Amino acid sequence: MIKSTNAAYAILSVILFCNVGCTINKPVIAVIGTGYVGLVTGTCLAHLGNNVICADIDQEKINALNNGVVLMYEPGLKELLDESVLKNQLQFTHDSANAAQQADIIFIAVDTPMQSDGTANMAYLESALQTIAPTLTKHKVLCIKSTVPIGTTDYVQQLLMSWGVEKHAFSLVMNPEFLREGSAVQDFLHPDRIVIGSRSYQAAQQIKSLYEPLLTSNTPCTIVDPATAETIKYASNSFLAVKISFINEIANLCEQTGADICAVSHAMGLDKRIGPYFLKHGAGFGGSCFPKDCNALLHNAKKWGVSLPTLSACLLTNEEQRKKPVKKLLDFMPNLHNKSVTVLGLAFKAGTNDVRNSCAITTIDLLLQQGAHIKAYDPVANTNMKQLFPRIDYCNCLEDAIDQTDAIIIMTDWPEFKQLENISKKSSAHDLIIIDACNIIDCSKLETKKIIVGKMGKKYEAMDNRRMCN
Ligand code: UGA
Repeated sequence: MIKSTNAAYAILSVILFCNVGCTINKPVIAVIGTGYVGLVTGTCLAHLGNNVICADIDQEKINALNNGVVLMYEPGLKELLDESVLKNQLQFTHDSANAAQQADIIFIAVDTPMQSDGTANMAYLESALQTIAPTLTKHKVLCIKSTVPIGTTDYVQQLLMSWGVEKHAFSLVMNPEFLREGSAVQDFLHPDRIVIGSRSYQAAQQIKSLYEPLLTSNTPCTIVDPATAETIKYASNSFLAVKISFINEIANLCEQTGADICAVSHAMGLDKRIGPYFLKHGAGFGGSCFPKDCNALLHNAKKWGVSLPTLSACLLTNEEQRKKPVKKLLDFMPNLHNKSVTVLGLAFKAGTNDVRNSCAITTIDLLLQQGAHIKAYDPVANTNMKQLFPRIDYCNCLEDAIDQTDAIIIMTDWPEFKQLENISKKSSAHDLIIIDACNIIDCSKLETKKIIVGKMGKKYEAMDNRRMCN
C-alpha cells in the first residue's frame, strides 16, 4: 500500500516537473542544496506562491523527496511540501544544472562545514558554482543562503568571471538565514528580520519581493552590501553563543554560591536590553551552526589581522561546559567502570534528529573512557547517533532506557523526559542518580530518598539524606 502510494507520488512528481513554471508572472526559483536550510527555503517560497525547483546531488535524498518522504525531522515541513507539490509549485531533482538552467533566481544553500583547522569548507559552494556557471547565459540573480566567510560574495563574483561568465549575466545577493532547526518553518514564515546584501539595487529588490508577504512593521528588511550581510550572520550566531557561554559561567558560579541560576537568568532577561532568549544554562551549545560559525568567524577575523578574544573565550568555556554532565556524575559515582548509565537525548537539542556536534557525543565519549555500559535513547535521533556510536545499547522507548540502570543523564529537554518525575512511584525504584543537564525535573515530585538528582548550576544540599536540588 505504502509502496503504491509512493509510486503514484513519484509519477505525479515527474509529470509536474515537466510543467514547471506554470504560475504566471512569477520567477522560477532554483534552490541548490536540500539540507534543512535549502529544503525549508524552497518549500516555504513555494508555499508563498512561487515556482520552485529544489536540487541536490544526493540522489537518495531526491528519490525520497520525490516519493513524498522527508528524511529530516522538521515540524510542519512535510505538510507544506505535500501541499506545494500537489499545486505543481515545488519539484525535486538531482540535476542541479537543469534546475539552474530553468531558473530566474538561484538560491545556493549548500553546506559550509567546519574543517579540522576551524575554517569553513567552501568546496560544496565552489562545486555548486561550477554547475551553475554554464547556465548563466541570460541574466539570473544568484542568491547565497549558505553561511560564508566575510568577503565570499565578492570572491564568487571574481571566480565566476575568471571562468568566463559575463559580468552582466548575473547579479549576486547574500541573503543569510536565521532558521533554527526544529522550528525552521515557523522561523521562515515569521522572521524577526530579512537581511539582503547586494551591490545591485534591482537584484536586492527582486529578492525582497519574494519576502514581501512576510514583511510587516515588526519584520523589517535591511538592505546592505554583501560583506555587511555576511558579517550580520556570523555576528548574530556568535553573539548568541557568547550569551550561552556567559550564562553557563554564571551557572557555575551559582553552583558554588547557592544562588538560584534560574531566578538569575529570568530576572536578567526581564531587562529589555538583555532579553530573555538564549539565557538557558545547560551542557553547552552544539549543533552544526554555532561551533562552526564561531570558529569560522575567529579564523576569518584573524585573516584580517583582528583578534576576537570574547569569542575565543566563549568557545573555551563551551568546551569545558560540555564535559560537566559526566564530571557531575563522577562527583556522585566516582567509579563508572561496568556501571550502566543511560543517556537521554542524543540530538544537539530537542525537536530535531540532527546529532552534529551534539553535546551528547562528548558525554558518550567520556562515559566510554570511564568504562561505563551505555544505554541511549532519543525519540527521533537514535538512528543518526548509531552511525557515530554503533556499539552502545539503543533503546526504543523511555521505559526500556531507564529500566535497570545505575544513572541517567538528561541531555536535551524533550517533554517526554519529564516523565522521570514519576519514576519514584514505581515499586521497582532503586538507588539511582539522575544528572539533569536541562533542568527539567521538578525534584519536589520525587517521592523517594533513593534518587539523587544533580542539576547544572545548582548547589548540592543534604536534605533528609537526599542530595537533591530544585
Ligand atoms: C542557530 C541559530 O539560532 C539560527 O538563528 C541560525 O539560523 C542557525 O543556527 C544557523 O546558522 O543555521 P540552531 O543551531 O538550529 O540555530 O539551534 P539553536 O536553537 O540556536 O541552538 C543551538 C545550541 O545552543 C543548542 O545546542 C542549544 O541547546 C543551545 N542553547 C540554545 C543553549 O544552550 N541555551 C539557550 O538558551 C539556547
